[in-house]
Amino acid sequence: MTWQASVVTLFPEMFPGPLGQSLAGKGLRKGRWAIDAFDIRGFATDRHRTVDDTPFGGGAGMVMRPDVVDAALAAAIAAGPERPALYLTPRGRVLDQAMVRDFVAGPGLILLCGRYEGVDQRVVEARGLLEVSIGDYVLSGGEPAALVLLDACVRLLPGVMGAAESGVEESHADGLLEYPHYTRPADWQGRAVPPVLLSGHHAEVAKWRRAEAERITRERRPDLWARHAGRDRAPSAPCV
Ligand code: ADE
Repeated sequence: MTWQASVVTLFPEMFPGPLGQSLAGKGLRKGRWAIDAFDIRGFATDRHRTVDDTPFGGGAGMVMRPDVVDAALAAAIAAGPERPALYLTPRGRVLDQAMVRDFVAGPGLILLCGRYEGVDQRVVEARGLLEVSIGDYVLSGGEPAALVLLDACVRLLPGVMGAAESGVEESHADGLLEYPHYTRPADWQGRAVPPVLLSGHHAEVAKWRRAEAERITRERRPDLWARHAGRDRAPSAPCV
């Protein structure tokens, strides 16, 4: 079955955007996945096509109206199988590879993109939207975040990534950052490739790569390292 992404946005022309290129684009044309975009403005009911209003309680910016956003969401929900519905927001749970794997295992996603100060919280509650962030920084809207999230998902779909790009040995696949890569020339500007990689000794190469992956994870991401080191250790006390 085709994995289906439905994006609810004020900027439908931003999709598929970069996902129409390269392997994701090829997968799209081959029908491995599909994307449709729902223009929120098309669901406004007044003659000015208003989608936002000032925040109750005062303050800067505008808030997207729950009635208009909800009507757009309803159209997206009706356009495909039952799928998780996400709201991209810097206030959300930070995306990681385990979440991506879960999303890919399902039939697709509905992605609501906010602009301005965001959407009225009541529509998030009423539709049971899962709030997701792609990192601790603020974008001008949810659309680039939706593209990032979809890229991470689509590349894992069967038949999208070639064998050479297979996601088995890559950063985050086993909770570690990946080891470094080298190709020809073996000597470049006086910098030699680590000799073990030229040895032809597969077990030694695997050992070196594992050690490098562990060193880099420990140095750069102590948070990932703590989780990784903790997960293959038996619990020190019985859980009661
Ligand atoms: N919208 C604005 N910033 C965002 C972020 N970091 N993640 C998801 N959606 C966003």
